[in-house]
Amino acid sequence: MRHHRIAAIPADGIGPEVIEAGAAILEALGKRMGDHSCDLTFFDWGSAYYRKHGVMMPPDGLEQLKSFDAIFFGAVGAPDVPDHITLWGLRLPICQGFDQYANVRPTRILPGITSPLRNVEAGDLDWVIVRENSEGEYSGHGGRAHRGMPEEVATEVAIFTRVGVTRIMRYAFRLAQSRPRKLLTVVTKSNAQRHGMVMWDEIAAEVSKEFPDVTWDKMLVDAMTVRMTLKPESLDTIVATNLHADILSDLAGALAGSLGVAPTANIDPERRFPSMFEPIHGSAFDITGKGIANPVATFWTAAQMLDHLGESQASRVLMDAVDRVCQAGIMTPDVGGRARTREVTEAVVKAIEGSN
Ligand code: NAI
Ligand code: MG
Repeated sequence: MRHHRIAAIPADGIGPEVIEAGAAILEALGKRMGDHSCDLTFFDWGSAYYRKHGVMMPPDGLEQLKSFDAIFFGAVGAPDVPDHITLWGLRLPICQGFDQYANVRPTRILPGITSPLRNVEAGDLDWVIVRENSEGEYSGHGGRAHRGMPEEVATEVAIFTRVGVTRIMRYAFRLAQSRPRKLLTVVTKSNAQRHGMVMWDEIAAEVSKEFPDVTWDKMLVDAMTVRMTLKPESLDTIVATNLHADILSDLAGALAGSLGVAPTANIDPERRFPSMFEPIHGSAFDITGKGIANPVATFWTAAQMLDHLGESQASRVLMDAVDRVCQAGIMTPDVGGRARTREVTEAVVKAIEGSN
């Protein structure tokens, strides 16, 4: 019996609703498989914690998380707390403190879900976006001077390091190599950003030599939006900078039908620290408490977590169950269904119990 210790941080808005659903799924899977368990420890960090203590998590937060095998994260964001506080107070410190430099975002059209793209069906769009998650445009480098004066200046400096770019390229090439098509697209903007992005391109070419069996090409980020929309079947694995991949993966989520189904994993490939698994969406306060949050993104990220923990069979059983439930039309309103979070969750639990 393998026991995985998971730190659960539901946090804000619909975070607690989808993490509760995810916890039910993990329990059902453990029972069905009979060879492992995910033992969740809950942390009450987030905006409510901030209102009480003035911080999103305690100062020794990372220390408390360090010994866990993985982190299962909901979402942060509250109407009355500025977004840069909620984001930089909890989610980003975990990503950066634990050097989770590979952000992995699979996208595919689930059965029963209609893509907004005409003539595109399940199977035509099956991508994994790898987002550089530790530097680039979101390194936090920069500052403001002469605040409020006419000569006020603000800088936001993108940082690219040889170490940082090399390791994300290796991760992306390796991932592409592990997928049937062995196809990688490197997203860049080296025509306009002529320092960092030119080094990015050079390092991609260097690393590609280590992976002679991977076919790869380069795409400017603006042209990439066109290709994703008009020729989705020409793409498989994609690697991009922190900012570029942030934007492209929202587009990917939309093309696959909804933000409510899109998962993400923040991975420390060297496994020095726990990796973090979360739905891509935010706290969605417009639907908080209504019982209609789509739990599928959270189920999918739970499948990523199981893969990371070495439970690939459980991960497959889970995604099969999700596919069957979507196919049967048991879906929340964001993807055109009428089911509630609880009904989708119960249906997936049943599908897991009945799987063979
Ligand atoms: P959002 O992702 O929370 O919501 C965007 C739209 O998608 C809303 O209409 C929402 O109802 C819908 N939606 C999102 N997830 C859904 C789900 N599971 N099921 C059904 N519908 C869903 O993004 P928004 O509105 O821009 O931001 C709200 C708050 O969340 C902000 O404070 C923002 O900073 C934060 N945020 C946090 C993230 C995180 O914790 N990783 C990521 C994105 C935003
Ligand atoms: Mg985003």
